[in-house]
Amino acid sequence: MSRHPKDQSGKLRLGVNIDHVATVRNARGSAYPDPVRAALLAQQAGADGVTAHLREDRRHIADDDIARLMDQLTIPLNLEMAATDEMQQIALRHVPHAVCLVPEKREERTTEGGLEVAREENRLAHFVAPLREAGCRVSIFIAADKPQIEAAARIGAPVVELHTGAYCDAHAEGRLDDRDGELQRLTEMARYAASLGLEVHAGHGLTYDTVKPIAALPEIRELNIGHFLIGEAIFVGLPAAMAEMRRLMDEARKGAG
Ligand code: PXP
Repeated sequence: MSRHPKDQSGKLRLGVNIDHVATVRNARGSAYPDPVRAALLAQQAGADGVTAHLREDRRHIADDDIARLMDQLTIPLNLEMAATDEMQQIALRHVPHAVCLVPEKREERTTEGGLEVAREENRLAHFVAPLREAGCRVSIFIAADKPQIEAAARIGAPVVELHTGAYCDAHAEGRLDDRDGELQRLTEMARYAASLGLEVHAGHGLTYDTVKPIAALPEIRELNIGHFLIGEAIFVGLPAAMAEMRRLMDEARKGAG
């Protein structure tokens, strides 16, 4: 069984991704800033969960961070990882509340696209099964795309996380027609995924400027936000950055309701 019961409240959850605290630490090979300290601060400031991506090259979070997060957090940990044997063993050793499967290429700066579930359906079905049996809530990070959503449902994942990167990039680059097109796609695919019985999350690249239209989508139950929040925390502190994000999420949700 999972250490954390499924949230039945219907509230839009905020998962805080702490990877980039580790990025700053790792830039100097020092012990600080400690991402676990950031996770505990996020917890204290009302985060509904903490997300960390254990990459194959360990460029952000390290193995010991995962062990410490598991020991010290009382809110759910969402472990992002590639679908490799090494990562599966680590997840089965720790049994975090959630495991989010993401694609991973060494040369990429960040997780650039969603997982190609449809292309690897058989392998991923076998990969997901022991994680689910161990009690991890498995989510699959995918583009807002019908074939990927359908494949995620078929392999038995209870959750999909829709990639908001293309929507955020289009906004940042002033390509407003593209942005609106991406938002339309996210809107329709969130609805479609929920109609198949999947729980829908979203994330990647979200900022104060882009969060509201996504938070307003009623099918979305959780947002995972990291890079912007950690960057903003440099100026205002993590609790204040989270509070502003939470305010915008709640405002969007109220408007939608
Ligand atoms: N969700 C997933 C699956 C991710 O891979 C990431 C980035 O690690 C995020 C959310 C958070 O993205 P960002 O750091 O751009 O807010």
